[in-house]
Amino acid sequence: MGTETMLYEGKAKQIFSTDKPDEVRVYFKDDATAFNGEKKGTIQSKGVLNNSISAFFFELLQSEGIPSHFIKKIDDRNMLVKKLSIVPIEVVVRNIVAGSLSKRLGWEEGRRLSRPVVELYYKDDALGDPLINRSHAAAMDIATPSQLDALEETGLKVNAVLQKFLADKKLLLVDFKLEFGVPVQAQSAAPGGQVLLGDEISPDTCRFWDSTTNEKLDKDRFRRDLGNVVEAYQEIWSRLGGGR
Ligand code: TMP
Ligand code: ASP
Repeated sequence: MGTETMLYEGKAKQIFSTDKPDEVRVYFKDDATAFNGEKKGTIQSKGVLNNSISAFFFELLQSEGIPSHFIKKIDDRNMLVKKLSIVPIEVVVRNIVAGSLSKRLGWEEGRRLSRPVVELYYKDDALGDPLINRSHAAAMDIATPSQLDALEETGLKVNAVLQKFLADKKLLLVDFKLEFGVPVQAQSAAPGGQVLLGDEISPDTCRFWDSTTNEKLDKDRFRRDLGNVVEAYQEIWSRLGGGR
């Protein structure tokens, strides 16, 4: 690891080069932010849990025919992934009203949507990641129409797989956010090339509710100062069979 350099530092992760140009190492931090970085904190062991939980979900998705950047878990806090050139769009899929959708539509949190809702957000911290539509994305030239199709289709497929899997664990998948990118080598051959699922899938990026009590088991416990934040992340990991 001695010759590795940090390529990027985000709010919850650091990305390091490896000895292969098309692979990077993701280090999961305990840092947590909310409201576009306005609220900051540390959640002890979050990095360890999110690394394990993300690796678990990427393996599950792979087994269901949904590939991602995930190659392997290296250790407690590190994951080896394919290097992507990130598409600056966050894809949010929702099954139950919560968070910003509740505010936007004035709908009560907890209301079940009659069908999944897919949203696109432009990844730009200075603008606070605004909601955009396909027409904006096309005009901004940040994704091709076929990439946008892939983003939305993959979002819905991931939703179907995770929702079904989590139901057996007595968990409701309220909503989640995905990010995508074009693998670096593919991109040099074909800009606007095929996108691959990237980033992480964890209680930082998903809302999980206990299906019996509707108790929140995700980062909303930090965002809303509900307490027992680590315990919620641990509960998710243990329902996935963590450590067994
Ligand atoms: P929202 O209701 O705040 O728009 O969030 C929708 C989902 O996206 C929720 O599961 C949390 C996740 N999310 C992120 O992963 N990163 C973000 O920066 C935001 C705002 C939401
Ligand atoms: N991670 C995001 C931020 O700090 C927001 C969130 O997850 O609520 O901007």
